Amino acid sequence: MHKGFLITFEGGEGCGKSSQIKLFTKFLEENKIDYVLSREPGGAEFGEMIRKILLFSKNNIDAKTEFLLFSSSRADHIKNIVKPALREGKVVVLDRFYDSSFAYQGYAGSLDLKDIKLITDFAIDGCVPDLTILLDISYEDGFARKSQDENLKNLDRIERKGKEYHDKVRKGYLELAKNEPERIKVIDATKSREEISNEIKNIFLEKYNKIKN
Ligand code: TYD
Repeated sequence: MHKGFLITFEGGEGCGKSSQIKLFTKFLEENKIDYVLSREPGGAEFGEMIRKILLFSKNNIDAKTEFLLFSSSRADHIKNIVKPALREGKVVVLDRFYDSSFAYQGYAGSLDLKDIKLITDFAIDGCVPDLTILLDISYEDGFARKSQDENLKNLDRIERKGKEYHDKVRKGYLELAKNEPERIKVIDATKSREEISNEIKNIFLEKYNKIKN
């Protein structure tokens, strides 16, 4: 449907997603592969505004409202950033995409997965990732890493939800990967940064070369 390549990064809190994305985009630059990096929720101005509501609202937002906000941000992001870049044949690297909604609002927030699928299909308009990297980590390991990197007082609304919620997020992600093993590749996020980065590059190149040739 498009000429570009859509790769998304997913995982629980403290899985090392940001540093792996940095290493991956550096690799794209070194190989002169044209790319666009964006994140969800966010990306365009409208999405960034929704991001602030979602992450820093003082009020309790229920899972349904939360999901609809993520979805409207996603629809805007797809139309204005992701699709135009794919049409130009670029690699689009996303820090989170709809699998986050299935894991957080679905498996952990108890929304019906069928509802999530219906609205997600509407929001993404056919934009399914060519590859999704899932960095798998336990709640304990993830938060231990987070507390090394930043002040835990600054945790956002979703990060504060506690172990039970985040355990469900992890299980949900693994279930998604089981259902779509061709698209979602699970990587053990407790391995070394270099090991993980090499694994990601290899998986990417295999798929990318297949699509490009
Ligand atoms: P962010 O600051 O990007 O966190 P991280 O570095 O962990 O990616 O915040 C995104 C938060 O939003 C994160 O806790 C996951 C959550 N989220 C959802 O709950 N549903 C979604 O659909 C998306 C895209 C994110």
